[in-house]
Amino acid sequence: MNERILAGGLAVPVVGLGTWQVLDVGPECQPGADRVVATMLDAGGRLFDSSPMYGRAEGVLGAALGERRAEAIVATKIWTPSDEDGRRQLERQLQLYGGRVDVEQVHNLVNWRGHLRWLREERDAGRIGVLGATHYSPGAFGELAEVMRSGEIEMIQVPYNPSERAIEAEILPLAADLGLGVLVMRPLGSGSLGPGPSPAELQELGVESWAEAVLVWALSAPGITALIPATGDPAHAAANARAGSHAGFDEAGRRRVEALWRAR
Ligand SMILES: NC(=O)c1ccc[n+]([C@@H]2O[C@H](COP(=O)([O-])OP(=O)(O)OC[C@H]3O[C@@H](n4cnc5c(N)ncnc54)[C@H](OP(=O)(O)O)[C@@H]3O)[C@@H](O)[C@H]2O)c1
Repeated sequence: MNERILAGGLAVPVVGLGTWQVLDVGPECQPGADRVVATMLDAGGRLFDSSPMYGRAEGVLGAALGERRAEAIVATKIWTPSDEDGRRQLERQLQLYGGRVDVEQVHNLVNWRGHLRWLREERDAGRIGVLGATHYSPGAFGELAEVMRSGEIEMIQVPYNPSERAIEAEILPLAADLGLGVLVMRPLGSGSLGPGPSPAELQELGVESWAEAVLVWALSAPGITALIPATGDPAHAAANARAGSHAGFDEAGRRRVEALWRAR
C-alpha cells in the first residue's frame, strides 16, 4: 500500500475506509464491521474516517479497532454549532480511541471559527494530531477557501470522482499552494459505479475491477493525498486497499476512465 504525507509529517495510506452508513450498525452487525476494519488493517489501509454525524459509526469503529487502535490513523469530526457540545464530542472520541484523535476535522464548516480556537489548544496539548475542515458542496467552497487561507488547518476533505470535479478549479490548486493535505470523500460517486466496462477494457487499463479504475483515477490527479471509500463488504475493502498499490494512470488513462464513466 502506497502512503503519502497528509500534513505535519503524518503518513497515511492512499486508500482508507469511510464509515458513513456502513458502520452505523447495531450490535448484531458488529462482527461484520470487525471483519471490514480488520481487512483494512491487514492490507495496510489503516486510515479510518468517521463523524458524530454518522450515528453509531464512531463507536462501532472504536470497538472494531479494539486492541489494534495503535495501528490505525483515526480521522473524525466535530459537528455541532456549540463549542460546549464540540468539546463533549471530542471527549467521547478520546474515550473511544485511546486518548488521541489523529485527524480532527470541522464537519461541513459548522462553527469553524469557534471550534478551531479550542481545537488548536487540544492539538497543542497532544490530544489531536492534525486539524482540518470538510465540506461536500461546491456552494461552500468559497468559505472553505477562507478557512484554508486562515492558516488554522492542515488538511481538507472534499468530494472527488468523475462526476464531481469542482475542486479542480480552485480548491486543489489552493491546497497545493498552501501545502494542505486533501482527503477525498465519495471517491466512488457514493456507489454510482453502474455495471462498468468489459473485462477486456479493464485489462487494458491494468486494473482488476471498475472500482479500482475509478479509485486510481482520483489518486492520479495532482494534489490528492488519500481516498476514503466506504464499504461494508470485506471483499470490497480488500480490493479497495489493493488499488493503493497501483502505479497510477497517465493523462490518457485518466481520460479513458472518464469516457468509460460517461458510458456506464
Ligand atoms: N464530510 C462530509 O460531508 C462527507 C460526506 C460524504 C461522505 N463523507 C465520507 O466519505 C466516505 C465515502 O463516501 P460515500 O460513502 O458517500 O461514498 P463512496 O465511498 O464513493 O461509495 C460508497 C459505496 O461504494 C460501494 N463500494 C465500495 N467499494 C466498492 C467496490 N470495491 N466495488 C463496488 N462497490 C464498492 C459501497 O457499497 P458496498 O458496501 O457494497 O461495498 C457503497 O455503496 C464516507 O463514508 C464518509 O466517511 C464525508
